[in-house]
Amino acid sequence: ADTGFKLTYGTMFNPPEELHTQFDETLARMKTHLGQEHAMIIAGEERKSAEKFENRSPANTDLVLGIFQKGTIQDAQDAVTAAKKAFPQWSRTPWQERVALVRKAASLIDQRIFEFGVVLALEVGKNRMEALGDAAETADLFRYACDQMEANQGFVKEMGRDPLTGYLSTNFSVLRPYGVWLVISPFNFPCALTGGPTGAALVAGNTVVMKPATDTPWTARLIAECLRDAGVPDGVFNYVTGPGSTLGQALIEHPDVAGVTFTGSFDVGMRIYRDFGSGRWVRPAILELGGKNPTIVTQHADLEAAAIGIVRSAFGLQGQKCSANSRVYIHESVYDSLVPRLVELTNKLVVGDPTSRSVYLGPVVNKSSYRDFQNFTGQIAAAGHFLTGGKVLTGGEYDKGYFCAPTLAELPLDHPLWKQEMFVPITTVAKFKDREEAMRMANDVDYGLTAGFYGAPDEVEWFFDHIEAGVTYANRPQGATTGAWPGFQPFGGWKGSGSSGKNAGGLHYVQLYMHEQIRTLVR
Ligand code: ALA
Repeated sequence: ADTGFKLTYGTMFNPPEELHTQFDETLARMKTHLGQEHAMIIAGEERKSAEKFENRSPANTDLVLGIFQKGTIQDAQDAVTAAKKAFPQWSRTPWQERVALVRKAASLIDQRIFEFGVVLALEVGKNRMEALGDAAETADLFRYACDQMEANQGFVKEMGRDPLTGYLSTNFSVLRPYGVWLVISPFNFPCALTGGPTGAALVAGNTVVMKPATDTPWTARLIAECLRDAGVPDGVFNYVTGPGSTLGQALIEHPDVAGVTFTGSFDVGMRIYRDFGSGRWVRPAILELGGKNPTIVTQHADLEAAAIGIVRSAFGLQGQKCSANSRVYIHESVYDSLVPRLVELTNKLVVGDPTSRSVYLGPVVNKSSYRDFQNFTGQIAAAGHFLTGGKVLTGGEYDKGYFCAPTLAELPLDHPLWKQEMFVPITTVAKFKDREEAMRMANDVDYGLTAGFYGAPDEVEWFFDHIEAGVTYANRPQGATTGAWPGFQPFGGWKGSGSSGKNAGGLHYVQLYMHEQIRTLVR
């Protein structure tokens, strides 16, 4: 059934009542049949493996959401073989037909948006608006890649007549797909970061093997179903699940994989980059890695806008966004005004069952993240002090899942945690005397993903010009460093945050999935 309204960027901040009603109805319906087994999809066929794994809710680890396949190295090989076999025909399918199929898949995501939302809330622990947002963003990423193919007429362009052969020659630049494209996606945006690269790779004419994070196989399965139901031919996309160390590694090492998009941590990304680079020839690797995103607040800032934007970006999705605002530098003259407001807003955030309407923070994704939180708060307790939070939450429903208190802390500026991505709900704050000093600290990390600024209008250009980051926001209460949307804020990073230099959901993204062929013909 049609959802009756289209979820948009605007809906995220001003949800209509009907959205909540439909979410609640879908949740109630889906809760009655949790725990089912889900297969992989290889060459259009449902594939099961001998070994399985359970997908449990991070909000209640007693709750088994589904049983998924522990795919083997053989499954990895079969998926690549299927994608390779499907490539010649798919790549020769007129791009307009590929676009039509991917657009159809986008509208199927829209139609199933509440199902996606419920799965994302249960599987990742996203609050309902963030869950719905991830799915809505995926549909828009599909459409944006299609828009780009259309705006560029399939990337076939006539070039000038060369002086050597003059009127006797024609020159064309044609962008053509690479072949089998591997998409390895993370738990935190399992929809947009599986679907976005997959949609771009497919419209460009590649065939795809999707390998989602082991925490989030269900969301990726829904994307695969939308592609299948849209009529994307068998083998053109393949969906495999299982451990990165065996199945994922076999895909990376497979000589018939032509390109990879990996989104995840810096350390894993660099390993993939090296392993993928040791193939027979140079293969493109689009890496979207971590962030350590700063916000600078000057003495001229609207402090209320800053407080709202910082708290949203620090604690949305429990701080587990590569775009999370993990460092805040505040001018000393407004520090004592802003910090109490940050604490006050943080203390108002409701932590709990992510499917519940009032909750802002669900659990962190798994035991390993929970331990990270405990480890980092231990380090902060030893070296700095908490403004609020600092502990995991216990008692009642909290005992069943991985719940952490949103945490603001002061920490000496030479502490290593100022430079390390934490990926849990912890943000550190510090004061500065002059803005050049703040900019130096903001840029003094290996990452360069997003950055926020609050200050006077005549300071904004200075911020944009000096900050080393791929996505930058000034004076934005909707989020200091988070909340990019395809087509408006194409997303990607500099330095250790990303390899491609061209942002996803932007003007130059789908081209990354094609190599150029020049066609010169002399008559
Ligand atoms: N697109 C996500 C954000 O901007 C990562 O927060």
